Amino acid sequence: MSVAAIVTAAGSGSRLGHALPKALAPLGGTPLVVHAVRAILEGARGAAPADRLERVVVTAPADRLPEFHQALRAAGLDGPLAETRLDVVAGGSTRQGSVAAGLAVLPPDVDVVLVHDAARALVPADVVRRVIGAVRAGHGAVVPALAVTDTIKRVGLDEDDAPGSGDTQGWPVVETVAREELRAVQTPQGFARELLDRAHAAGRGRAHDEAVAASDDAGLVEQLGEPVWVVAGHADAAKITTPWDLAVAGLVLAGRPP
Ligand code: CTP
Ligand code: MG
Repeated sequence: MSVAAIVTAAGSGSRLGHALPKALAPLGGTPLVVHAVRAILEGARGAAPADRLERVVVTAPADRLPEFHQALRAAGLDGPLAETRLDVVAGGSTRQGSVAAGLAVLPPDVDVVLVHDAARALVPADVVRRVIGAVRAGHGAVVPALAVTDTIKRVGLDEDDAPGSGDTQGWPVVETVAREELRAVQTPQGFARELLDRAHAAGRGRAHDEAVAASDDAGLVEQLGEPVWVVAGHADAAKITTPWDLAVAGLVLAGRPP
């Protein structure tokens, strides 16, 4: 199989609130996007030798391409000495649009595509390997995920159930959801290229704005009625969204062997 990875890094990181776009924010002195690309390269190295990672495409904010090139070059991931060809392309206004921009530049011989969030900078190589392996085993769409540990309740968000104000603001509980069958989904998500192309083409017709854009690629595959397979994820693949998440990731990184 010829494998390519799209690393989505075009978001601004509004919830992180860093001066830089989130993917350039430092974690242990290294930008998140560099951690994320390294994690994919390391995971792919451990996959079956036949599953060659041919290319990595990083989607970046359109006005930041030189800074992304610079960060990746400084890490030895971009340029003539890099082991895998790496491209930086301008992302879209939604994550889905960014993945589509990455898909658009993949060469025709790529038959497996990993889609990975730069924000999941510390995904362990084992997770990447598992996803590639499950696609190789014949699953057209594969997502890593974790069991949910909190009790989950559905709440009513209808106009009629208007929340209060101040400390009493809240929502009415509609039901407690059976937790056993819930999974919190991570990345990289792995796909047969043909299936992902088809899912995005169908999704393009529906998603004109942020509100209806899919939050993950497997969701687009589900909307086609095609099966999606779940493999074990890892806590270290948690998405860095808030300053708290970044602080936790710093502890995870500090705890790893050098
Ligand atoms: N992403 C992207 N293009 C977008 C929006 C998001 O490539 N238009 C990427 C982000 O860079 C991130 C991943 O998708 O790696 C997951 O998105 P999220 O965690 O929401 O990141 P941001 O959108 O940057 O953060 P926020 O929503 O807080 O602004
Ligand atoms: Mg976002």
